Amino acid sequence: MLIRDARFLTSNSRADLCPAPTLPEYAFIGRSNVGKSSLLNMLTGRKGLAKTSASPGKTQLINHFLINEEWYLVDLPGYGYAKVSKTARAEWTRMINFYLRHRPNLMCVCVLIDSRHPPLPADLEFMEKLGEEGIPFVMIFTKIDKQSTAQTKALLATYLQKMGETWDELPRYFQTSAETAAGRDEVLAFIADVNKQ
Ligand code: GTP
Ligand code: MG
Repeated sequence: MLIRDARFLTSNSRADLCPAPTLPEYAFIGRSNVGKSSLLNMLTGRKGLAKTSASPGKTQLINHFLINEEWYLVDLPGYGYAKVSKTARAEWTRMINFYLRHRPNLMCVCVLIDSRHPPLPADLEFMEKLGEEGIPFVMIFTKIDKQSTAQTKALLATYLQKMGETWDELPRYFQTSAETAAGRDEVLAFIADVNKQ
């Protein structure tokens, strides 16, 4: 898919204040620092469109971006940031749960996972919850430029084996790098396909 146009629309703390749910929407969710905002910039080819940072906790709100005037990409705050208080963690859960339940146009959640990390309970539990609620999702393994192809392959095998303990059918997955743009065509082709449905 060719990205002709990508622009920031709004930042909101509540899903009911977000842009009208009239266009297909894809949301990036995952641990803080996993590379959600960087992936958004890589896919759109616009560096600096979504704010990124080396320190976790950069994205704090629900950020809508309009792509090609046809669909939304949504950059969300991350979870699992150790330095965040219990209250802030509860607030994240409330915001995200409310968001997930109030966007009838949400076509697919993209769960981002650092390709260097073994399966972590927070990610596995989050995906189980999506499954229970019948919310479609795919996994995106990020930062593959940070290690060898063999290392990524081994991590993926471990991850998929762990997922197999819970899931009869494994979710679809992608491997990406915001540095090299690896995985860009695959993710955009997937979105184009879902948009057509
Ligand atoms: P929060 O908004 O805090 O939840 O983080 P985030 O998931 O949006 O992560 P962000 O995109 O801000 O990236 C975090 C750090 O990882 C930044 O220093 C990025 O430059 C770096 N990073 C993100 N993706 C990649 C990647 O594919 N490769 C490499 N080498 N670095 C990456
Ligand atoms: Mg971010």
